[in-house]
Amino acid sequence: MKIVFATGNLNKLKEVQALVGPRVELSTPADHGITEDIPENQPTLEGNALQKARYIYEKTGLNCFADDTGLEVEALGGEPGVFSARYAAVNGAGEGHSSEANMALLLDRLAGVENRRARFRTVFALILDGREHLFEGVVEGVITSARTGSDGFGYDPIFRPTGYDQTFAEMPLSLKNSISHRARATTKLIDFLSTL
Ligand code: IMP
Repeated sequence: MKIVFATGNLNKLKEVQALVGPRVELSTPADHGITEDIPENQPTLEGNALQKARYIYEKTGLNCFADDTGLEVEALGGEPGVFSARYAAVNGAGEGHSSEANMALLLDRLAGVENRRARFRTVFALILDGREHLFEGVVEGVITSARTGSDGFGYDPIFRPTGYDQTFAEMPLSLKNSISHRARATTKLIDFLSTL
C-alpha cells in the first residue's frame, strides 16, 4: 500500500516508516511535485491535520495522512496548543520557532502556578479512498519548574511524563519514542491500516 505522508520533516518520515513496516510505502509531498508550504492555519490540531491531508488529496488524488502536535497546559486553558512551535513568536516574546524562547515563555507564564498538569497530543488525519479518519495519541505529564536534560527537541526539557522521574530530554530516545504522543497516535494509525 502506498500513502503520502504530508510532512517535509524527513526524521518524522523515517520514524513513522520504521513503525509502519514494509507493507506500507510512504512518500512525501515533494515526491509528487508539491514543494510549497502546505497551509495549516486552523484553530485546532484536528483542523490543521485535516487541512494538510485535504490539500495533498486535492492536489494528487492519492491516499495520504498528515499530523499535528501540540503541548496543552491545563492551567493555561490548553495553551500553547496549535501554537506550540511558535508560542514565543505569536506572543511577541521571540522570533521563529525557538524552543528556548518557547520554554522560557511557558515557564514564565507558569511561575507560581501550582497546577503543572500538561499533555502532548498528536492527531493524524488519514484520507483513504476519499474517506477521512482521525487518530489521537496523548501522553499526560507535568511541566517542571526548570529545564532538565539535553536530549530531544521542543519542550522535552520541561515535560515529565506521568509515572516517570525524568523529563523527555533526560530519557533515552528509545524510551521516549515508546511512550510518546506520536508513538501512540502512530500505533492507532498502523492498527487501522493493518485491518485493511
Ligand atoms: P509538530 O506538529 O510535530 O511540528 O509539533 C509542533 C510543535 O510541538 C513542535 O515544534 C514542538 O515545539 C512541539 N512538540 C511536538 N512534539 C514534541 C515532542 O515530542 N517533544 C517536545 N516538543 C514537541
